[in-house]
Amino acid sequence: MTEEILSALACPVCGGGFALSENKKSLVCEKRHCFDIASSGYVNFCGSHGGDSKELVRARREFLSLGYYRPIADAAVELLGKYAPEGVVADLGCGEGYYGDIIARAGYKLCGFDLSKPAVEAAAKRKNPSAFFAVGGVFELPLKDESCAALTNIFAPCAEKEYTRVLKKGGCLIVIGAGEEHLLGLKRAIYDEPSLNTERADLPHELRRVETRRVKYDIDLKSNGEITQLFSMTPYFYRTDERGFARLAALDRLTTEIDVLCDVYIKD
Ligand SMILES: C[S@@+](CC[C@H](N)C(=O)[O-])C[C@H]1O[C@@H](n2cnc3c(N)ncnc32)[C@H](O)[C@@H]1O
Ligand SMILES: [Zn+2]
Repeated sequence: MTEEILSALACPVCGGGFALSENKKSLVCEKRHCFDIASSGYVNFCGSHGGDSKELVRARREFLSLGYYRPIADAAVELLGKYAPEGVVADLGCGEGYYGDIIARAGYKLCGFDLSKPAVEAAAKRKNPSAFFAVGGVFELPLKDESCAALTNIFAPCAEKEYTRVLKKGGCLIVIGAGEEHLLGLKRAIYDEPSLNTERADLPHELRRVETRRVKYDIDLKSNGEITQLFSMTPYFYRTDERGFARLAALDRLTTEIDVLCDVYIKD
């Protein structure tokens, strides 16, 4: 873990700063609250058993590794470069670390938080020396006030109040989520009358929005395995009936829209 990330972290029990223990196997706060560092390098700050399951994490990791979502990661890096060219970036709801890893490779010190232990474990196994991943909820982050130059929040719940607390003045929050046509081709394959996505309800309203970038392109999935991986990481996986599953099982090619909105907010 880098010095910059260590000094951004705050004990979830008392809010105090952390130091590494002498044997470097745990984080110990000023009041001696102690959190072990797992052998893969992550810390569990909240003892969570929630968030995405192991199977879902595996499907997402395999799908993302195919590169179909790379333009989304590139947009995040480009927007970070424009609004927060250096410093600590926290990726909130980081999943298995696909975006965090790319952001750290672009020169940032990255800390990622997610409620899912299997996801954080997978993220830590990427062994990126500029990235640190921890199990922690986005509504109560183990981060000091005004400790981060930038925050990213990619297909994950947005907790504006908490994000505002941990963001430095002048820092940026980048919220990335589905635009109206996101995965429309996939929905067409499952449903008779697919509807467009509507605007999410949890977008920030106190922070100042300075830019919305739309990233829109088509992807061509080349096997039923790829289609199933994508499907299983979407909310539709949990809402689709047997008929929809059977329709997808019969496909070995699928073209679908990718349509995401990257909203950038500044803390004045
Ligand atoms: C759709 S996934 C996106 C993961 C990652 N950002 C990506 O795009 O690959 C949503 C993630 O948010 C996490 N999550 C859900 N509620 C959370 C919360 N309250 N705090 C932290 N993470 C949460 C889930 O465990 C899951 O990994
Ligand atoms: Zn403490």
